[in-house]
Amino acid sequence: MASAADPPAPRAASEQLSIRPLLPPGEPASAPEIVERLGLWTRPAPPAERPRVLNNMVSTVDGRASIGGRSGPIAGPADRELFHALRTPVDAVMAGAGTMRVERYGRIIRDEARRRLRRERGLTEEPLACIVSASLALPPDLPLLAEPESRVVVLTPSEAELAPSAAHVEYIRTGSNGELDLSRALSELRRRFGVEVLLCEGGPHLNGQLLAGGLVDELFLSLSPKLAGGDPPDGEALRIVAGEELEEPLELHLLGALEHNSHLFLRYGVSARERVSRETTSSSSLAS
Ligand SMILES: NC(=O)c1ccc[n+]([C@@H]2O[C@H](COP(=O)([O-])OP(=O)(O)OC[C@H]3O[C@@H](n4cnc5c(N)ncnc54)[C@H](OP(=O)(O)O)[C@@H]3O)[C@@H](O)[C@H]2O)c1
Repeated sequence: MASAADPPAPRAASEQLSIRPLLPPGEPASAPEIVERLGLWTRPAPPAERPRVLNNMVSTVDGRASIGGRSGPIAGPADRELFHALRTPVDAVMAGAGTMRVERYGRIIRDEARRRLRRERGLTEEPLACIVSASLALPPDLPLLAEPESRVVVLTPSEAELAPSAAHVEYIRTGSNGELDLSRALSELRRRFGVEVLLCEGGPHLNGQLLAGGLVDELFLSLSPKLAGGDPPDGEALRIVAGEELEEPLELHLLGALEHNSHLFLRYGVSARERVSRETTSSSSLAS
């Protein structure tokens, strides 16, 4: 739910935070327990041509998605726990290059116990790390690329390559005029890499394009109990969706809600995919 890519490592099982389910109501639970109940491990049928896409973002109550150019100041402890827990059962984690650069992404699953859990459940040790970029201008010292264990897929309209790095890097090349064809890129992620559940961690410009293309199934929105002010047209005052205005406002359907220390965690089905989300999640709402 938070979006700082490299927040402090998740807590040990013995000291995990207790999060209160509001909708549907239930007993307080830890972040891994909450995510266990989402049913993501079981891979309910994804949309026919592409992975099921979950978008995870954090925002202040007045809509700010970054403060001082980072999402870290917005997030809280439970938010960070859920952020890591949500990564654990998915096949791939995707972010735009803007977010990768600013948040300095590192290894997707840093906790050995979570990697072990994935192995036990028949998954690879870590989700694929997917970077969307036209420029391929990623710093060679980006921790994600410096890790030999990282499996990275770059989604790009360009024919260029990243500078050599320790990570294992592959490419999906589609699109034109410096614009990735997101729909085709996601289909290729499914076909070539077997990605059925994709967690997109932003940023706002990538979100805007995914939403405009009808490519988001669910939004996990962490609503941080803060007001930051600021003028939205200013690049420093991004909201969770940026870029061109959507043709029609998208309708969201609340699937679940949690609370920890006044911080709300909302799970929404997104418009066209709402039916799919309801079908695939009816037994496993965020808080059930
Ligand atoms: N609150 C939250 O939950 C949250 C989450 C994530 C990020 N953030 C914040 O958001 C800010 C970054 O926002 P952002 O919107 O600029 O980041 P972004 O969407 O992650 O990155 C934008 C970049 O992604 C690439 N890209 C996106 N769509 C593309 C397409 N269709 N074709 C080719 N390339 C494409 C381009 O990279 P190239 O420039 O390399 O071509 C583009 O400059 C940071 O301040 C970060 O802290 C907040």
